[in-house]
Amino acid sequence: MGVAGTGLRGVYGLPWLSLEPLLDLSALDAVHEEVCVALASLPTDYTGGSHRSMGIMPEELRETALTDYAEVIRGLDDAQFAVFRGLADDPSLVDRARREGLAFGEERDVLLSRRQMLWLEYRFGVYFPWKVYYEMIPNRWWTEKHDPQGKRFTRAAESLLPKTVALAKSLPFTKIGRCNIMGLRAHDYGTVHRDGHPEEQSRPDEFITLCPAQNKTLFLYDRASGARTRTEGRALWFNDFDDHGVEAAPYFRYSIRVDGVFREDFRERVRSHARLVREQISSHPGTLAGP
Ligand SMILES: [Fe+2]
Repeated sequence: MGVAGTGLRGVYGLPWLSLEPLLDLSALDAVHEEVCVALASLPTDYTGGSHRSMGIMPEELRETALTDYAEVIRGLDDAQFAVFRGLADDPSLVDRARREGLAFGEERDVLLSRRQMLWLEYRFGVYFPWKVYYEMIPNRWWTEKHDPQGKRFTRAAESLLPKTVALAKSLPFTKIGRCNIMGLRAHDYGTVHRDGHPEEQSRPDEFITLCPAQNKTLFLYDRASGARTRTEGRALWFNDFDDHGVEAAPYFRYSIRVDGVFREDFRERVRSHARLVREQISSHPGTLAGP
């Protein structure tokens, strides 16, 4: 398994795959209008902001994470920690976490409140790459993102994003365990990281990324060579155990990511589409960046 000539694991022998030919995306223009209006009203969150301390970045790019909130929280003095505690949604959890040595933030024991994130940004300059983040299906742990057990679309998503919810439900998954909108403000970039260790993966996690405005450039980063492979288009899939990041651009960008388990017939179509793309690439060498 892997992408020939690279250090990437990829999906079916490719660094990424456009799913545009395999999906009905006729609703995407209307979804785009709906998302932009909804984001103006929804209680969006920040995400990212601790990729370096999570140990999921390539060594040579660690500085690009700028100020990491877990490092900042570890260095708070008593007075600052009292402020941090006071901004929690439930300050008693912060007390317990401190007593028991628990960690704060995503994929850790105690989530940060929106107020804590803003304070960490304003007071210490923490860099949160995704500043307009909305979980249409809230999901607590990364390892459960394919599993719908105990989850549902939020009421706000159902009322403000009905076309988006309908599109997500129409995608060729047998089940969906996570659905979110990931927005970056103008000039921000998504720090390069990977979502799991490649050696721990038996097959690529299944998800679909939609970018209705086609203006968000996600790229794969090959640790072996330092090469970047840019993606494009309105619907795509890649291996999130490969390093990936988002290029900066001078305007707001977002994508919608839906995680779950592909229907077997769709997986088969994806596999044969990937085979076709690989054949095209091998007959036209040098086109690896644009499957
Ligand atoms: Fe990621």
